[in-house]
Amino acid sequence: TDFVAGVSYDECKATADWLLSKTHVQPTVGIVCGSGLGGLADMLKDPQFFKYADIPNFPRSTVHGHAGQLVFGTLKGKPCVCMQGRFHLYEGYPIQKITLPMRVFKLMGVKTMILTNAAGGLNQDYKVGDVMIIKDHINMPGFGGINPLAGPNEERFGVRFPCMSDAYDRELRQLAADVGAELGYSDFLKEGVYCVLGGPSFETIAECRMLHSLGADAVGMSTVHEVIVARHAGVRCFALSLISNRSVMDYDSEERANHEEVLETGRLRAKQLERLVSTMVARLDND
Ligand code: 6GU
Repeated sequence: TDFVAGVSYDECKATADWLLSKTHVQPTVGIVCGSGLGGLADMLKDPQFFKYADIPNFPRSTVHGHAGQLVFGTLKGKPCVCMQGRFHLYEGYPIQKITLPMRVFKLMGVKTMILTNAAGGLNQDYKVGDVMIIKDHINMPGFGGINPLAGPNEERFGVRFPCMSDAYDRELRQLAADVGAELGYSDFLKEGVYCVLGGPSFETIAECRMLHSLGADAVGMSTVHEVIVARHAGVRCFALSLISNRSVMDYDSEERANHEEVLETGRLRAKQLERLVSTMVARLDND
């Protein structure tokens, strides 16, 4: 399909082959680092770096706090590829470009995706610094037809109408809870529903109240589109939200969402998040 430039099967294959010809590892695990969480990529042993701008068919990342490169290496002996910085709807890319890396990773041999993000806490029991295991999502742009799978279906990746009721792998969620408990993280580890919006403006108070009443525990601007495309291609997904601020739910509040706070919370929890993810990767049964 050449519905959107640079995302056809052949173009994804060309990008995957280009990367494979230059890397010393064939990744089986893919990791996406959210805002302020790029340190995850620094854990990889014998790292090899590819700036997005140098990779054929890749878009460029434009957000502060996102480095904009792929990092290949091993984590606890497992071959990994890490996105240090991701693409968002609000940067203005066609949605199919945002999720292109998922198809490239699939073609490189990735079986499991671990995605992280920073999110606003809608659930009033959540505190800044909590880590939410995503158990399900609400794809708000999808209600309006903005879905990365819109357009002709590429059967070589997956079916026209993929199921999403098992999007967030139950075993991986259990593994995260078990590892989290062992590491002593249970007090700040939660599980909940993530709602994606287009951004870049943060939610209004009325929007926060609406999303909360609809069953969302956290709100952000990423991850869901990547998960949809990875699941379409049969890749197992696990995702975490770092709660970087509490959503403003009442009109008397003086709190204001801002990007600095997002990056600051990343710094606060980065080391623990890295430990959680690396211990999970060590235990992944990825065959
Ligand atoms: Cl409060 N909202 C959204 N949409 N994304 C965020 C966020 C809030 N905090 C971090 N990312």
